[in-house]
Amino acid sequence: MTVVVAGSLNLDLVGRAPRIPGPGETVMGQTLARFHGGKGGNQAVAAARLGAAVRFFGAVGRDAAGDELLAGLAAEHIDVAGVARVDTASGCALITVSEAGENAITVLPGANREAPLPTEGALRGARCVVLQMEVPPAANQAWAAAARAAGVPVMLNAAPAGADAVALLPWTDLLLVNEGELAQLCAQTGHAEAALGPATVVTTLGERGCRVWHRGREVAVPGRPVDVVDTTGAGDTFAGALAAALAAGKALIPAVTEANVAAALSCRRPGARGGMPSRAELDAALAEA
Ligand code: RIB
Repeated sequence: MTVVVAGSLNLDLVGRAPRIPGPGETVMGQTLARFHGGKGGNQAVAAARLGAAVRFFGAVGRDAAGDELLAGLAAEHIDVAGVARVDTASGCALITVSEAGENAITVLPGANREAPLPTEGALRGARCVVLQMEVPPAANQAWAAAARAAGVPVMLNAAPAGADAVALLPWTDLLLVNEGELAQLCAQTGHAEAALGPATVVTTLGERGCRVWHRGREVAVPGRPVDVVDTTGAGDTFAGALAAALAAGKALIPAVTEANVAAALSCRRPGARGGMPSRAELDAALAEA
């Protein structure tokens, strides 16, 4: 049940403020914290905490942040042999989290711009490949093509949902987006959700849960109420949990149901990975439903 994640690693610098400032505005914040992040790394951790064997491919600098980010993945029992060390500084994300737990993120990709292409054997034994949009499009294209050639399904978390994400849609088996990203993809392609291309489209709806479109059938999965501290990484938790469940052989709707609860639980603690549940925590929450 190996999950391959190819994607970004960032050091997250997180400022808490009463609200997220608008353009040109200054707001007085409260605290500054640093966490391990990057959508790729976060999704890998979410899957590993739920019991998946995870192989991660990405790039960090030859700097202290790179050491730290690699150690963070290794501590979660993730195979990091495919992470390149490059001369560019490790990726960084500047994040503001509001009192309501909402966030605004600026990613400074740094070393992620040199994310590796698939190597011989990279997909051996993989049950799915998980991609996001924080590494160069050529890298994502190469991973998607290698996965297609190897018969391994591709899950694309189209975040951010620019033109490069549109180009990956024909290579995608399962598309995971939030409402804003879905609207962006539909606007760029001129197609509705059902005609974007992937056989499955999962749209996360925040506290309202998510919607699953699969080959003409639509299913709504309601949200799980939690006391929200920080929504950063909720989408990544969803992606990693979904990949872990599908890799474990679960059917689509039970897998999405798990991912939906995992994402809600992740919002209860600060940092993208702080609230990601363990297998035991998720099983207990699922049993409560
Ligand atoms: O999805 C949350 C992540 O987005 C953060 O960890 C940040 O690094 C950015 O990649």
